[in-house]
Order: sequence, then C-alpha cells, then structure tokens
Amino acid sequence: MKFIVQGLAGKRLAGTIPVLGSKNACLKVFAAAILTSEPVIIKNAPLIEDIFRMRELLASLGAEVENRGRVFRIVAKNIKTRALDDGIAKSLRASIVLAGPMLARFGEVQFSYPGGCVIGKRPIDLFLDGFKKLGARVTSDKQGNRFTVKAKRLRGANICFRLVSVGGTETLMMAATLAAGRTTLHNAAQEPEIIALADFLNKCGARIKGAGTNTITVDGVRSLHGGVFQTPPDRLETGSFAIMGALLGDKLKITNCNPAHILGVIEHLESMGASIKKGRTWLEVTRAKKPLPVNLKTHEYPGFPTDLQAPFAVLLTQAYGTSMLFETVFDGRLTYLEDLNRMGADIVPCDAHRAVFHGPRSLRDREADAPDLRAGLAFIFAALIAKGESIIHNAYNIDRGYEKIEDRFSGIGVNIKRV
Ligand code: UD1
Repeated sequence: MKFIVQGLAGKRLAGTIPVLGSKNACLKVFAAAILTSEPVIIKNAPLIEDIFRMRELLASLGAEVENRGRVFRIVAKNIKTRALDDGIAKSLRASIVLAGPMLARFGEVQFSYPGGCVIGKRPIDLFLDGFKKLGARVTSDKQGNRFTVKAKRLRGANICFRLVSVGGTETLMMAATLAAGRTTLHNAAQEPEIIALADFLNKCGARIKGAGTNTITVDGVRSLHGGVFQTPPDRLETGSFAIMGALLGDKLKITNCNPAHILGVIEHLESMGASIKKGRTWLEVTRAKKPLPVNLKTHEYPGFPTDLQAPFAVLLTQAYGTSMLFETVFDGRLTYLEDLNRMGADIVPCDAHRAVFHGPRSLRDREADAPDLRAGLAFIFAALIAKGESIIHNAYNIDRGYEKIEDRFSGIGVNIKRV
C-alpha cells in the first residue's frame, strides 16, 4: 500500500486535529497485563498496527484479548507457553518488554532477537544484564539469536543502566514488581510513559516510587490484581502535528493533547519563529514566514525526542540559513536524509549522527519508501511542501504508529489518498 500526496502549492493547513492515545504507553500496558491473572482494561488505545501486533502476540501466548472500539480487555489467566511468537516479535521491537512480565510471573521466557523499525542496531544487552542482576539465568543458541531466561523467583537488586533506555527501564520495572525484595533502578529513563505505566502498576498493587525521575525503587509483592488504564495523549503525535503546524499551519489547532509533555519541541519551534498558543489540552500553531535556522540535538526526555527528529528535519530544509542536526540516541536514524536530498534539499551528512542543513530549498515531488514510522511521516510533510504529486510506498510503516492518517490529515486541508 502507498500514499499519494499532493503538494499544497502555497495553501496552508487549518482546522482542528485531535491527538489519539499514546502508542508507546499503551503497548507497555499490554505487556503489563501478563503480570496478573485478573482482567486489565485499556481505554483510549490507538487503533494502529503496532497495537494489533501486540494483541496478536498476547493472544498467541494464550491471553484472552477482546476489544470494542478503543477499549481492550485482556485476561492473561491461561497462558499456555513461555515462548514469544517469533514471527510477530520480529516485526515489533516493543515485544521485548513482554519478557520482563513473563519471567516475573512464570519464571521463564523464551524469545528471539526482536525486530521493529530499521533505525540502526537495537541491542538488548541492558535487558539481559538486568535479568541476570535480578537473579535469572540467561542462555542463548549458538548464533545468539534465541534466548531462554529462567528464575524461580526474581530477587530485588541494585541496577545502574549503562545508558538510558526507555524499554529497559519499563521492562525491569515490571519484572521487579513481583521480585523478592527491593530493586533500585539508577540512570532510569524519565519519559511520561514510564510514569503512566508505574501509576497503573501501583493501582494494581505494585509498590513503585520515583517513576519520572532517574532513580526508581520497586518493592516486590507476591501478586498483582487487574486494573483500568486510561491511555494518555500521544506526545509524539502531538509533537509531529506541532511541527506540521510550524511548517504549514495557519492557526492549526491540535486538541486532546498535553503540551506539557513537549515543552522541548515547542521551545525549538518558537525559536524558529513559529507562533504557538497553548492551553492545558490544546495547541494552536502558525508557521514562521521565514523560519530561522536552529541546531537540533536529540536527547532522552525531557530533551528533544529522537522520534521527532525526522519530521523536524523537513522543517530545517525550509530554514533561512545553516542548521545542524545531531542525533544522539540511535545509530542509523539519518539514512532517510538521502531521500530529502533527492527531493531537492541541501543536507550534508557528516557521520552516522550529524548532518548540516543549508536552506531554504524548494522541494520537488518524488517516490520514496517509508523506512520507519517517523521518517515515513516526515516524507508526507516533505510531499506537502513539494511541487506536484509524491508517492510514499510502504504505508504500513506509517500505519504502525499513526491511525488512519489520511482521514485525519484530510480534515485539515491535506490532499492524501491511500492506494
Ligand atoms: C523507545 C520508544 C521509541 C523511542 C525510544 C527512545 C517504544 C515502543 N519505543 O524505544 O519510540 O525512539 O524509546 O526514546 O516505547 N540500547 C542498548 N541496549 C539495550 C537497549 C537499548 O544499547 O539493551 C540503546 C539503543 O540502541 C538506543 C538507546 O539505548 O541507542 C535508547 O534506546 P531505548 O530507550 O531502549 O529505546 P526503545 O525503548 O527501544
């Protein structure tokens, strides 16, 4: 499947676009449902491909998963296997977070190296080392592709992450909820999704303190009960739409969001000259007529999110002057820049992490493959400022993280069709 996008030819985006529930928060609560035999209800889930893959993964383990609209009900009572389904796990990086709850509740989990976005090497050493520190035995096949992790009952431990990892923090935090004794996670990630997960687990009987800071303590309990999770607004969708507004908006209103979660993004957009009004649950963004150049450095929360680096790069192609982009979180998250150059941008890659932008440059229509969900969205933005009609192949990658984007963008003046 592909998207066909018409350049806006000087038109502006206006109207209202509501933000849906957070993919990254919701996925982790699907995994957390494995920690209890009682029902877990997830409300306001985004209906996106990554969530559908997670539902399939849980169902393949034997969990009952029902959904009505945006409400999912999961009962992980009759889990029949300890092995995560290879096929599904390979297409979903977040599958690895299931390993923590599986190990904590059943004392064993088997899984293959997880897949997901093609944004460079995504190691799992922090997960494996963390499981070992919690007292588990980790073995792998000769190729190091398939892992078995076992522990009768995990034991609380002092763990300091060598680098800040969102999935690592969430997985070990979940595993520690059922461990014997206290676990302290140092150098933990501080993303709002981690607070949402900890709050939910605490409602289910866990004893977690410090989520949202870089030191989290978890006092293990014997079992957790079920609970209800209200998925918070997706801050990455909010940030994506705000960037879109800074590029092309004329009072583009973004609703059902939490602007407090994207302060770093707002700061960058305002420094480029975009005009942003904000309330508690909405933003209104108008583009800068002559965007100023800015240096962008991605960083763990509360810094500028790596997920918004590609959409922001499209804005940098329109800035008057020279900007620098520095991706510090992932390797290989800049390969999509070649496609922007083929569309007419003037971007000089320096190494795997840095690139220099000269602008502004007019972009022309092209065909491109969405390499991952965030760069896929960036290509839609590039197509909107390009002259003519652009084709973006591999729509699946965009559908992984953005629900029915063509319908939602049509409502604010975008001419986009799915074929
Ligand atoms: C999560 C988000 C993703 C976001 C990323 C960083 C989900 C489903 N995905 O991904 O959208 O871009 O946080 O904000 O929530 N690393 C290791 N060893 C490990 C684990 C990670 O070296 O065992 C490295 C990674 O390669 C990367 C860095 O740590 O360079 C941060 O990755 P991490 O925070 O773990 O990302 P995810 O949790 O996979």
